[in-house]
Amino acid sequence: MFERLATLPADPILGLMSLFRNDPNPRKVDLGVGVYKNEQGETPVLASVHEAEKRLLARQTSKVYVGPAGNVTFNAAMSALLLGPSTALAEGRFVAVQTPGGCGALRVAAELVKTANPSAAIWVSDPTWGNHIPLLGNAGLTIRQYPYFDAATSAVNFDAMMASLAQVKAGDLVLLHGCCHNPSGADLSPEQWRRVAALALETGFTPFVDMAYQGFADDLETDAYGLRYLIDHLPEVVVAASCSKNFGVYRDRVGLVGLLSESPASAQAAMSHMLSIVRGIYSMPPDHGAALVAEVLTDPQLRQRWEAEVAEMRGRINDLRERFSSAMQVRLGSDRFDFVKRQKGMFSFLGLSETQVLQLRSEYGIYMLNSARASIAGFNATNMDYVCDAIAEVVSV
Ligand SMILES: Cc1ncc(COP(=O)(O)O)c(C=O)c1O
Repeated sequence: MFERLATLPADPILGLMSLFRNDPNPRKVDLGVGVYKNEQGETPVLASVHEAEKRLLARQTSKVYVGPAGNVTFNAAMSALLLGPSTALAEGRFVAVQTPGGCGALRVAAELVKTANPSAAIWVSDPTWGNHIPLLGNAGLTIRQYPYFDAATSAVNFDAMMASLAQVKAGDLVLLHGCCHNPSGADLSPEQWRRVAALALETGFTPFVDMAYQGFADDLETDAYGLRYLIDHLPEVVVAASCSKNFGVYRDRVGLVGLLSESPASAQAAMSHMLSIVRGIYSMPPDHGAALVAEVLTDPQLRQRWEAEVAEMRGRINDLRERFSSAMQVRLGSDRFDFVKRQKGMFSFLGLSETQVLQLRSEYGIYMLNSARASIAGFNATNMDYVCDAIAEVVSV
């Protein structure tokens, strides 16, 4: 039967990574890959996570199964990190389970929606992270798009977004990036979050927040503003969270899916379905990464160290954004790239044509996605001038 299968085209991001690896240019720069990098171009294990790992290894006496919900300490600590002090949590209207990464969370949520309302559509921003469509769509839900990013202003086209969301029918879900929108870097303002919440109340759609970068925009609390506002003002909200970036535990696959429901009883019923879905897909999540995150979040000393490490990663990204904008200002004598310093998180669209992106790749060994999505943490003191010179060169012809 496998003879019937034709080979699929390579994933564009993985394909770009292999092009980069094979490029002999000694000055090559990787602005493609979606992981945080430090000034040395490395993605190290955080010191807080490393310390948690040592402690866990020293005290672990069994590798017995964890169960479909995963690590309950992790679930409680992550729910508190996401929601802050919350009456919904205290009242038992918010329930959550550990998942294999944010991807696992998105998929379990989609399967749950499919169970609760098989005809629901999920509305995603245009553009959105590429993997949202297969992760959610392969659960059998219809994917619809709402306009989000305006390339002309490099900002959210909020009027167009709201006009589109006003057409969403009750029972559909609207996927919103909690902060650090991937791929655009353009986030909703607090006032815009409040207006989305009001629209959700009016039309009856359920917000579905993907929180993959908490702590990477302004700080851990501010970055959760939108999610927390929705939780405080709406009867139902779905959340998918990833610990990959802010704990640097990418390959350990750590995430959380949570939902707010109108009553503790309906939350528990939904929980029973989530557990049954988990059991039917991968039975139970891996233990290690979530145990690390639980240790970091619940030990005051480790938590303090981790918060400082998140602040350092965020500070570096925001500093690179500033430096890139001013370096381009100097080279072009214009504010064309000022939007980069106004945006948040790991990514921005640099607003280059595909021809310019390909020229940067072939002539300078500078790699970003064909859409000109650049991973900002790929910049460093050594390559910043080189990349800015090259971009100034290609946009000036
Ligand atoms: C917007 C968004 N959501 C979810 C994820 C899922 O992350 P993971 O499954 O690696 O935890 C990512 C990862 O890049 C992302 O960018």
